[in-house]
Amino acid sequence: MTATSPFAQHTRKPASTTMRAVIQTVYGTAPTNVLQLAETTRPTIGDDQVLVRVVASSVDQGTWHVMAGRPFAMRAAGFGIRTPKALNPGRNLAGTIEAVGANVTDLHPGDEVFGTGEATFAEYARAKPATLAPKPANLSFEEAAAVPVSALAALQAVRRAGVGAGTSVLIIGASGGVGTFAVQIARAFGATVTGVATTAKVELVRSLGADQVIDYARSDFVDGTRYDAVLDIGGNNRVSRLRRAIAPRGRLVIVGGEADARWLGMGRQLRAHLLSLFVRQTLGTFISSENATDLNELRELIEADKLMPAIERSYPLGETAAAIEHLRAGRARGKLAITIAGANHER
Ligand SMILES: NC(=O)c1ccc[n+]([C@@H]2O[C@H](COP(=O)([O-])OP(=O)(O)OC[C@H]3O[C@@H](n4cnc5c(N)ncnc54)[C@H](OP(=O)(O)O)[C@@H]3O)[C@@H](O)[C@H]2O)c1
Repeated sequence: MTATSPFAQHTRKPASTTMRAVIQTVYGTAPTNVLQLAETTRPTIGDDQVLVRVVASSVDQGTWHVMAGRPFAMRAAGFGIRTPKALNPGRNLAGTIEAVGANVTDLHPGDEVFGTGEATFAEYARAKPATLAPKPANLSFEEAAAVPVSALAALQAVRRAGVGAGTSVLIIGASGGVGTFAVQIARAFGATVTGVATTAKVELVRSLGADQVIDYARSDFVDGTRYDAVLDIGGNNRVSRLRRAIAPRGRLVIVGGEADARWLGMGRQLRAHLLSLFVRQTLGTFISSENATDLNELRELIEADKLMPAIERSYPLGETAAAIEHLRAGRARGKLAITIAGANHER
């Protein structure tokens, strides 16, 4: 610990009951204003939960939404109305099981896992066995921590779009967290993949196996080509525009798209659902589910060398706010990991 460490003036409590964690007590849109690194007590677990010693985590757009409490509908959905309920907005994790609740029989201390948990920007986090799976054997903890939230969304979107052998899919937002997984999963399922990305990220998308990449600064994806499926992950294109790139009986899956939505943030998705009742194309959206079955499917794809997280860089736990800022600035290429292992190993 150096003299400049945020902990230098604090006396450390006994190692067995405390941990370093990112702490958030108020909602706010600027990560550096609301996230602080601090020493705090370790979480306790219930009979159906496990305590994970977190080696690495990662950030995604959902991290910012939970941190900001935006759109406001999220607060009513259980994140806390006036102030955040969770210690911090982290959800991704990879680490080892530290302790298990009385009713947990399928996980044991020492097991290496990846998945989602509560407040995972911390040395220890609580999780449910139903949102964890064995860590892919061929990934580091850091790589494994980049997978859960984004790759689950990608897998579920690809499935929902009916992407499979012999189909063609257009992936808008192919260079981001969800998109980099979606390109690889669609390829693994046998589809012909066209990615859409900005100039600086075209090569990244090509390197993930996309058959073609459209640089949206130079060309329009609405060029007369009709795809069996379109995954709309970034850019907030109007539904009417997206439909012009979909085959007459093709499918549109709206995964997301960052807009300055304060209240619900689902206007485009609701319009697509309504319109779908009146047209032959299937237009829709979904809310991704965190579950062990899909994590295991991702693990199998990873262990078969068909899927790898594209990690631009890793940040130490104390720079989690900087990672979120980099992502929100639109500069991230694929995933940003948070490394926590160094802190664990000191203990
Ligand atoms: N439905 C769900 O359950 C679910 C689950 C997970 C995530 N999401 C949502 O999905 C969205 C993407 O998440 P993410 O974590 O992948 O975010 P991300 O890492 O920031 O990726 C988003 C991508 O969108 C691209 N983009 C931005 N403007 C664009 C434009 N005008 N045209 C085309 N592409 C554009 C960016 O690529 P370029 O730099 O190449 O432009 C960026 O890589 C977010 O809105 C998130 O909230 C939804």
